[in-house]
Amino acid sequence: MEHPFLNTPPEPEDKGVMTADNLKAALAGESQASQKYRAFADVADNEGYPNVARLFRAVAFAESTHARNHLSVLGMLGSTAENLKAAWGGETFEIDEMYAAYAAVAKLQGNESARTSIRYALKAEMDHQRIYDATLRGVEGKKDLDKTPVRVCPVCGHTVLGDAPHDCPQCGTAGGYFEEF
Ligand SMILES: [Fe+2]
Ligand SMILES: [Fe+2]
Repeated sequence: MEHPFLNTPPEPEDKGVMTADNLKAALAGESQASQKYRAFADVADNEGYPNVARLFRAVAFAESTHARNHLSVLGMLGSTAENLKAAWGGETFEIDEMYAAYAAVAKLQGNESARTSIRYALKAEMDHQRIYDATLRGVEGKKDLDKTPVRVCPVCGHTVLGDAPHDCPQCGTAGGYFEEF
């Protein structure tokens, strides 16, 4: 079944700078809420409240539909080739500028947990940048990615195509815990 996206074409840019800014702010907020609820669901599961966890996951899904609708209206959903380029660009910005700068500030301020969290993200963004780049080359020739599983470390986000490593090279989590997609 095809995914039922919001059936509204993006508005031309002259339909209001404030509205576009508002939707960007709402996109950030909804995306955060969705992620937060998914983490809250994991906490609820760990505390023995599987049905509270289910509620959090359902509402997280609802928030993600809002985020996706805002993305659509903002004209931020392109073809898969365009989306891969945009995704590569986002990862590259995070590697070259954002996390590079955040890492320097966290070091300056001696915040060791933040340094770890930032290093995990930075290293995983490098995986994503490389994989998106290779995937884009295929899609530009109308070729889908092959069926190789994508495996992700549930602690640091280290992302690999194919077999999980014995232990995650970034955080040491056993490969058996990697999530498969
Ligand atoms: Fe990433
Ligand atoms: Fe890891």
